[in-house]
Amino acid sequence: MCGIVGYVGPQEAAPILLEGIRRLEYRGYDSAGVSVLNGLALRTIRRSGKIDELADALNKDRPTGTCGIAHTRWATHGVPNQANAHPHLSADQDIALVHNGIIENARALRMKLTELGFRFTSETDTETVVHLVDHAFQIGAATLEDAVATALLEIEGAYGIAVVSSRDPGKIVVARNGSPLLLGIGKDGEYLVASDVAAVVAHTRDVVYLDDGDYAVLERSGYRTYHLERGVVSRDVHQVTWDLGAIEKGGFEHFMLKEIFEQPASLRDVIRGRLLEDTGSVHLGGITLQDEDLLRIKRILITACGTSWHAALIGEYMLEEIARIPVEVEYASELRYRSPVIEDDTLLMTISQSGETADTLAALREIKAQGILAMGIVNAVGSSIARETDFGVYLHAGPEIGVASTKAFTSQIVALALFTLYLARRRHMSASDGREMVHALCQLPEQVEHIIQLNDVFHELALEYSEAHNFLYLGRGYQFPVALEGALKLKEVSYIHAEGYPAAEMKHGPIALIDEDMPVVVLAPQDPVYGKVVSTIEEVKARNGRIIGVVSDSGADLCAKVDHLIRVPQTLPWLQPVLTTIPLQLLAYHVAVMRGCDVDQPRNLAKSVTVE
Ligand code: G6P
Repeated sequence: MCGIVGYVGPQEAAPILLEGIRRLEYRGYDSAGVSVLNGLALRTIRRSGKIDELADALNKDRPTGTCGIAHTRWATHGVPNQANAHPHLSADQDIALVHNGIIENARALRMKLTELGFRFTSETDTETVVHLVDHAFQIGAATLEDAVATALLEIEGAYGIAVVSSRDPGKIVVARNGSPLLLGIGKDGEYLVASDVAAVVAHTRDVVYLDDGDYAVLERSGYRTYHLERGVVSRDVHQVTWDLGAIEKGGFEHFMLKEIFEQPASLRDVIRGRLLEDTGSVHLGGITLQDEDLLRIKRILITACGTSWHAALIGEYMLEEIARIPVEVEYASELRYRSPVIEDDTLLMTISQSGETADTLAALREIKAQGILAMGIVNAVGSSIARETDFGVYLHAGPEIGVASTKAFTSQIVALALFTLYLARRRHMSASDGREMVHALCQLPEQVEHIIQLNDVFHELALEYSEAHNFLYLGRGYQFPVALEGALKLKEVSYIHAEGYPAAEMKHGPIALIDEDMPVVVLAPQDPVYGKVVSTIEEVKARNGRIIGVVSDSGADLCAKVDHLIRVPQTLPWLQPVLTTIPLQLLAYHVAVMRGCDVDQPRNLAKSVTVE
């Protein structure tokens, strides 16, 4: 949510900053700006709207200089106009600051600063910080880093910030508390800062992740890291394992389509080196726990947001059925404020693609503080959740740029399946049952390839349904969370109202909505509840609903009952969600494209929600 980039080095900063925020545009896209230092001159250009607006302005009048900062915004405080766009400036326009996060005491700071004579030109919480830095200079700070460190002492809330000033030129000062920030260590005196590694990989794969409470100074001569309370600290340099190709469209029209098509590969990556075919078991290097500690876990509490929460629901069904361990799933935003009763032998599992979602991170911290063991199922390597959990399973899905999550979801299901199998084999599962599951997992990537080849079918289907105003998605058992995810995908990218419902619950309310204008997607693969779901199909048909059935066999007995039949390959019921999800992703994608929606950057959404 929002993107920060900073550059200091031998090259012109503006083009590098622009390219950097373009790579972060999926994190926020309602306004953008840059500030560039040229000796003692600081120039700032900001525009509302997408980054193209800013690019046009820079084409006409590019600020020169080799040190600068940039930002792409997702509005929290104040409408997305030019005045509220970052960077924000001091009264003399000699300090520029970009910020991600929320300053919680902004109102109080605004009053205090107003009394001190500072005038505000925006509605943002961020502007308080730049005036605080200005004030710190006024009361004696000698350097930009001293001024920033002094200002930070007054701030409550979450922030990732980058600051430049012509009062102390040639350097960028950055700080992090609860909002991600990393340094890119280039060659020949080239340093970058960014809120997401995607903005730096074109220049370097060596990155330093800052911790909460850290601040850093970047200059051509080098970088220094500090902690607000502990002074100078040293932070490790990590290597990014993926390359630029992973964050480019590679010939696809949209990232969403590319990422849907990448699923055979991302599923191969999540299982690679982890399946033990001979013993029917799983090797998970990230589980650093001894078996006896693992066996002490008596229940699992899973928390997540959005699509990751849907994966959590599938995990609940799997872990209870296969590993026979009680599981509860809770939205992170609810868990953190509802004083849950959590017993000592509970494992908290957090699921997050980005590893930075504010509610998930806050829930993790809340529950961990009670001494509860915490595990992460995370995609983004080095992210806050990955670092703050005791152990975990990485998805290795590569960067996901499309705002609507696709490949991360199917990898989350598989990671949950791997962990389920890991636990089950240590608890009670026989080697032969384990081997059956390992075999099914191995087949998944190829089965997904088969579904993706049907892409044109979904295009045809979208032609028929793109004008619909509502959609209903129904599923039962493992397919209920798939119904929720299918509905979420459609509403996220096409803005069609859609609801996911447990199939049998339809008769307790949604059935009132059904008529010839209501498309109903029914997930009906062969599983223990298939017969029950067929009854639901009959009920929809009796009311003239238009049915798209997703089945896992020939669908012979449904042909006459549904308007469209989508066939996916058969797998074990608890892995079937991986296969039934993909048609729903492709349907949402094609409907959205047909309606002229911006599928990669849907209105109002952001990829990584780092505010509450
Ligand atoms: C945002 C994204 C969703 C995502 C959710 C949770 O709302 O738009 O696609 O599912 O955040 O994100 P996480 O990174 O924690 O999985």
